[in-house]
Amino acid sequence: MGGTEQSYIVDAFKTNWIAPLGANVDGFEQKMKQYTGAANALALNSGTAAIHLALITLGVTTGDTVFCSTLTFAASANPIVYVGAKPVFIDSDEQSWNMCPIALEKALADAARRNQLPKAVILVHILGLVADLEAIQTICETYGVPLIEDAAESLGSTYKDQMTGTFGEMGIYSFNGNKIITTSGGGMLLSKTKATRTVAFKYATQAKEDAPFYLHEKIGYNYRLSNVLAGIGIGQMEVIDQHVAKRRSIFDTYEMVFREVDGVSMMPILPGTKPNCWLSAIRLNPEKIEVTTRELVTMMAEEGIEVRMMWNPLHLQPSFSGTTCYQAGDENVSEKLFEEVLCLPSGSAMRGSQQAYVIQKLLARLSRLTAINSN
Ligand SMILES: Cc1ncc(COP(=O)(O)O)c(C=O)c1O
Repeated sequence: MGGTEQSYIVDAFKTNWIAPLGANVDGFEQKMKQYTGAANALALNSGTAAIHLALITLGVTTGDTVFCSTLTFAASANPIVYVGAKPVFIDSDEQSWNMCPIALEKALADAARRNQLPKAVILVHILGLVADLEAIQTICETYGVPLIEDAAESLGSTYKDQMTGTFGEMGIYSFNGNKIITTSGGGMLLSKTKATRTVAFKYATQAKEDAPFYLHEKIGYNYRLSNVLAGIGIGQMEVIDQHVAKRRSIFDTYEMVFREVDGVSMMPILPGTKPNCWLSAIRLNPEKIEVTTRELVTMMAEEGIEVRMMWNPLHLQPSFSGTTCYQAGDENVSEKLFEEVLCLPSGSAMRGSQQAYVIQKLLARLSRLTAINSN
């Protein structure tokens, strides 16, 4: 927390707007539009709700398909199933760790041949790293498929100085407790057109029709953000630049150390992009480093340090069994990243001494194991 968040919560109490609407909700949307340059913003109670509404607004329904990055958190794709559609997954590339434009093109060409183009493409900017937006946007435009950006983790990341989340037809952010700013739980749906926001707003507020009595022609949801929690969001917008700067400096420190270690590389940054470095991650070359990321999770836990493996790609999750994943070549990149990538402690509140401790313990494990292996 930055320090002013509670004053906005107090405002909500003083004015008695303890509801999913009020000055804080409006103010938070306003601040988000100013910060990102988005034309329209709708504050919601989670990022997952924002993805769900994005799909509903595009008219995605039973029997449709939606393409989605495979290397991501399950919440990126779960809403595809909520609306009765079928997810088709797209592999990552080595350059960005995000959706591979070649694999996407392959999947769209295949779908076009079968006259079964997807209703949307969900592109995720994982860890705050920015995807190859221009290439992906061009491919989507060629096939006339709307792009939804899942920028849950990448608020503050830019592609050619434009904020992620503002390129697609719609974009979403998450303010879950672990994100770059938080409202404890919350989300935002950005849209290019006001009409989209109006439709999404209606579905987020139980789909009430404009009538003098309660009239519902559609099934709606209760997805708006609380005015109390939106107060936290306004306060957090005052410190977002500090949070991004802190996380970038955490990345720089890790980068300085690990570029000297043979067999270890930092997460990649595409030219023209500036990630928010929400999470810093390293990649271990299995030909040079025998310890696995899985083993390192246990080893580091013994030192009181939480490191995490990369997500298990969604096409491998039991909950998505039977789904297809398109990849550019023979090898599935996301499956390799799952095994080789280790996410490091990166919180905005982490002190320099804590990061030094993490680095010391990681280096000790890596060098000891490398030494043992070379004997
Ligand atoms: C990539 C990604 N998409 C979607 C979500 C869902 O956001 P929320 O937790 O606010 O529902 C998250 C995070 O939780 C996420 O990391």
